[in-house]
Amino acid sequence: MSDKKAILEIDGIDQPIELPIYSGTLGPDVVDVGGLTSQGLFTYDPGFVSTASCESQITFIDGGKGILLHRGYPIGQLAEKSDYLETCYLLLYGELPTKEQKEEFVGTVHKHTMVNEQIRTFFNGFRRDAHPMAIMCGVVGALSAFYHDSLEISEEQHRQVAAFRLIAKMPTLAAMSYKFSTGQPFMYPDNSLSYSENFLHMMFGNPCESSNISPVLARAMDRIFLLHADHEQNASTSTVRLAGSSGANPFACIAAGIAALWGPSHGGANEAVLEMLEEIGDVSHIDDFVARAKDKDDPFRLMGFGHRVYKNFDPRAKVMKEAADEVLAELGIENDPLLEIAKRLEEIALHDEYFIDKKLYPNVDFYSGIILKAIGIPTSMFTVIFAVGRTVGWIAHWNEMISGSYRIGRPRQLYTGYPQRDFVPVDKR
Ligand code: CMC
Repeated sequence: MSDKKAILEIDGIDQPIELPIYSGTLGPDVVDVGGLTSQGLFTYDPGFVSTASCESQITFIDGGKGILLHRGYPIGQLAEKSDYLETCYLLLYGELPTKEQKEEFVGTVHKHTMVNEQIRTFFNGFRRDAHPMAIMCGVVGALSAFYHDSLEISEEQHRQVAAFRLIAKMPTLAAMSYKFSTGQPFMYPDNSLSYSENFLHMMFGNPCESSNISPVLARAMDRIFLLHADHEQNASTSTVRLAGSSGANPFACIAAGIAALWGPSHGGANEAVLEMLEEIGDVSHIDDFVARAKDKDDPFRLMGFGHRVYKNFDPRAKVMKEAADEVLAELGIENDPLLEIAKRLEEIALHDEYFIDKKLYPNVDFYSGIILKAIGIPTSMFTVIFAVGRTVGWIAHWNEMISGSYRIGRPRQLYTGYPQRDFVPVDKR
């Protein structure tokens, strides 16, 4: 906090209004506009481009410099030296765990991987061709109907158990939503495997054969989860906070986050990237699509390019590109036509004036889509995998809010509809 103040002069109001300014440890100062309502004023900021919706100690982003820190640690260091579950611990508790704390945390997550057997029958209510994100919105929300013993949000112990359940069960539910679409039997988790190995085992294994999981692919999967673990107040995290601010239970809040993530401007972009590559179809068509992306009258955008916050480069994309190269080398993939299109597109966009001027760089979803395709994950599962990784971020933010002081989130509006008018009976209209 600081002693600085903003002075706001408004036509028609005699006295200038003093607004306190707060400083964080990093990032721009914020002007506290909360007192404006007493002057009969609201602020107006569609898309929340200039609005800090809360105070948080979890993640810091400097979009101009391409910096992403979790609890102060740069994402590149975490991706290189840590793993997903250790990063989960860091996000939830604020510090890296000791060896013993890490073992205990990982052991507890493993103990919660199974879902209530009744949930298996819940899946049968869906059509076989249901989108896995539609299934995830439903089944994750339904967890609140199965785990009544962790719904008392004012109790820290309940919040902890709910966090473990969500982090542990998301890969199980994600793999079930895929298996359901293929008609194959659901795979039970194997707790002797690591988090990402277990996910690949439940996705690609079958009860008749033992799973053979490549360590390179498991490491790539772990990195994908880690690189998606948190991203401060993005649309889905803000949705989780807003839903949670009403006192809703954590399973319902995370289901709300999954719904917000689904859209193509957010988590749905990784799926949209692959669909776009398929639509382009051949490198000879790239110029047409780039021209369309630049045409103001055409709503088409290059999926996987641009970011609301990163206006230099996306630090997650840098690591993801390295992981993509590793995976393609491990799998010996050299001549995949879609990957060829992706590489050419990246090259063109990085050198084209339009994309340079507007600071539109390949984002994390551009490369994660390529890796997931190479691993053999179907496109419709891409956003589900984002949701698995992001669950810890959602729950860390929800927990930070609930364990501090908070009020229900209730934005106001600039009303431009009719002024008051009298009802007209139907025979007089
Ligand atoms: N292709 C072509 N033009 C673009 C693109 C793109 N991908 N992204 C932005 N622009 C243009 C846009 O038309 C606008 O031009 P102008 O100033 O002439 O009107 C300018 O760049 C600024 O765009 P904006 O929509 O005002 O920027 P935003 O910050 O509101 O949107 C975004 C950010 C990520 C929604 C947008 O860049 C986009 O739609 N990208 C494609 C979808 C995508 O890859 N999303 C994944 C984001 S990373 C994962 C996550 O964190 O969820």
